Amino acid sequence: MEQLSVKPCKGLRGEIAVPGDKSISHRAVILGAIAEGPTEIRGLLRGADTLNTVKAFRQMGVAVEDGGDRLVIEGTARRGLQEPRDLLDMGNSGTGMRLLAGLLAGQDFFSVLTGDVYLRQRPMRRVTRPLRAMGATILGREGGRFAPLAIRGGKLAGIDHISPVSSAQVKSAVLLAGLHAQGRTSVTEPYPSRDHTERMLRQFGGRIETVGTTVTVDGGQRLSGCAIDVPADFSSAAFFTVAALIVKKSDLLLRGVGVNPTRTGLLPILQRMGARIEVAPRGEGEEPMADLHVVSSPLRGTTVTPDEVPAAIDEFPILCVAAAFAEGETTLTGASELRVKETDRIRAMRENLQALGADVSERDDGLVIRGGVPLRGARCNSFGDHRIAMAMAVAGLCCAGETVVEDTACIGTSFPGFRKILESAIR
Ligand code: S3P
Repeated sequence: MEQLSVKPCKGLRGEIAVPGDKSISHRAVILGAIAEGPTEIRGLLRGADTLNTVKAFRQMGVAVEDGGDRLVIEGTARRGLQEPRDLLDMGNSGTGMRLLAGLLAGQDFFSVLTGDVYLRQRPMRRVTRPLRAMGATILGREGGRFAPLAIRGGKLAGIDHISPVSSAQVKSAVLLAGLHAQGRTSVTEPYPSRDHTERMLRQFGGRIETVGTTVTVDGGQRLSGCAIDVPADFSSAAFFTVAALIVKKSDLLLRGVGVNPTRTGLLPILQRMGARIEVAPRGEGEEPMADLHVVSSPLRGTTVTPDEVPAAIDEFPILCVAAAFAEGETTLTGASELRVKETDRIRAMRENLQALGADVSERDDGLVIRGGVPLRGARCNSFGDHRIAMAMAVAGLCCAGETVVEDTACIGTSFPGFRKILESAIR
């Protein structure tokens, strides 16, 4: 089993570029496949998750020309997607599975979505329920709670879906089905989740309307292929942001990072903990980008409130690490969604930080971390979750002795090259 060994270092310095945004990459492939004409994607994340989405579309007859740093997708709007002959294996990706479930619900053919052992344990009813209400036939384990999901799509009617969770995957699944439904489809969620689908639909010439936390699309729209530049993934940059804050004598510049405000909730949280991070905007696209300049900063504990959770949802593992090295107490609440990510991230972070000697307690919907206790290296477990693996590798940079993170192949789902970039910045 792959593992990563980390030792304390004397600072992280220089300029780094992290890979393309995972959420935006998935959406560029999906919308490109159903648009009319070619879509050129520059900076696509070549992680296992997004490559599985590309493979699934190839299985449905979509021509994809892979030119290394640019990928061209021949949209199938005119002739449509074809029934796949085999299972569509989305690997570890909740985004891949849930967004494709939405798209396939509107296709007049049979398909089966499956995934790895972790994905097959993640809740799917949040998408199967609204998609069935729109008219799709979907079978899954335990009555549609878990994948594999077998889908017979077509003839959908628009609905107004009130989602009990703030989830861009649920919102996007229902909106993608809505594009192929009769009439209008809307999704309302408690707090706004990331809005990449909405922004990208506009880039493809689609009409979509957002009022408060309700997003509405008309069915039967035609989308036109376009050029998409994928910014660097804020969620990947977050590991290096926190690493530079907690490792003394660090000074790091992260280039061309996506700073969509529905994603950057970690920044104000870190800033009120005392972090020195400068955000220099770059260019003007549908998705905002910036260079982030981070220098080592003494941190203090904070309270994260439920309204702050959606825009920082993927950053909690690394925020827990920041909290463990901050003076005083950090409380995370309203984050029970963390229990149904690639693994139960509340439990995983509690166990791993405790292994390093941190003072951490678990709540149903979050964690309390009393920071400032010196930590010592230990063996940590990724639980098969890329973000847990990377968060613990960063923690290891500030622990006495060696930290070994076990089972790190999962890092390749979102951040191929993590180890190399880390080594290049270590002084
Ligand atoms: C994602 C949405 C979030 C996030 C995931 C990517 C997306 O999941 O955690 O990593 O691309 O839509 P939820 O929608 O389940 O919150």
